[in-house]
Amino acid sequence: MMRIMAVVGARPNFVKMAPLIHQLEKKGIEWELVHTGQHYDEVMSKVFFEQLGLPKPTRYLGVGSGTHGVQTGKIMGSIEELLMEGKYDLVLVVGDVNSTLAAALAAVKIQIPVAHVEAGYRSFDMGMPEEINRILVDRISQILFAPTETAVLNLINEGVKKERIFLVGNVMIETLISQMKHVKRPKSCNLPESYSLLTIHRAENTDTKEKMASIIEGIKTADTTLYFPMHPRTKHKLEHHGLMGELESIPNLIITEPLGYLEFQYALSNAECVLTDSGGIQEEALFHKVPCITLRSNTERMVTLRYGANRLVGSSTRLISSALKDVLHTPHTSWPLPPMWDANVSERIVSRIEEHGELLCLPSNDLISP
Ligand code: UD1
Repeated sequence: MMRIMAVVGARPNFVKMAPLIHQLEKKGIEWELVHTGQHYDEVMSKVFFEQLGLPKPTRYLGVGSGTHGVQTGKIMGSIEELLMEGKYDLVLVVGDVNSTLAAALAAVKIQIPVAHVEAGYRSFDMGMPEEINRILVDRISQILFAPTETAVLNLINEGVKKERIFLVGNVMIETLISQMKHVKRPKSCNLPESYSLLTIHRAENTDTKEKMASIIEGIKTADTTLYFPMHPRTKHKLEHHGLMGELESIPNLIITEPLGYLEFQYALSNAECVLTDSGGIQEEALFHKVPCITLRSNTERMVTLRYGANRLVGSSTRLISSALKDVLHTPHTSWPLPPMWDANVSERIVSRIEEHGELLCLPSNDLISP
């Protein structure tokens, strides 16, 4: 009987893991859900468990915030202890956050195989902590679940053996499909009739005062109301840079606490457009058919660009301003959903794990082609 340890730590992990846990449960596979505590605030963690019907974690590591090294190291140590306690056949990780890397690294070092969901995304920007996490996790995983054809190609180009890669679609979209009937209007603040949604949290933007100032100048030109649920990191950094007053003085900007999953999806699905530096939101916007303006100079979500659902503007005031004008004043054509971005992604993943036990036993020198 197979025993799986599923590890989550940060907000986007909860969204991706929910259907996988439900599927393991449905198939009668024994699982343990470990929450590292990378995200710990009620609005960043608890509300997601409640709204997505995720069971209470069986273990909570409470590592909290810290520098990359401290956070990753603490998680590794704690996961290793848990793994030594029980007989686990597989560690299941999702996405690209520090908790994902730490869990995968702790597992393979003691010869426990790893399955990575959302394998193969690449921004080709090693300045991004998530890119480092993605590359390393894929390199040490025994079974890799890719959301798109491009992700599969990225893995093959890096030498990962084809037999270990499965194109399964996007598990975050499965969550979205199953939750659409439950989305609800945010209570905390009046959502205007017509607005654009804004999210910023990525270190490459928040940690540099000049970049944040440039983004603020760009959004000042918006010919629309902007609705901005603010990530705690962004709040700390704006205060630190002395830019909060400047932001709050923008008349058509509404700042709120981070939203729950169901409230956020409501706000996204009804927005005229979204400005974001998140990865997952680029894909959720594609699903909702809401045009996306990405406040980054690259993306690992290439499919959103290829479908014409997204454009990259970085932190440039001029590019933000012209993209907003373009998106708000020109009717956009719609786009389809990429193959297998449907309601059966977790079913495919868990079936492949059940069918390919041999991949979990092969010696680790067999991971990449010679
Ligand atoms: C992490 C992920 C990022 C993901 C994001 C989703 C990494 C390297 N980054 O970034 O890929 O897109 O989660 O939100 O893993 N904080 C709180 N309360 C919390 C959590 C964080 O106040 O519950 C604050 C703390 O000041 C902390 C800061 O946010 O230092 C950053 O948190 P951290 O987990 O290090 O990374 P994120 O920026 O959230």
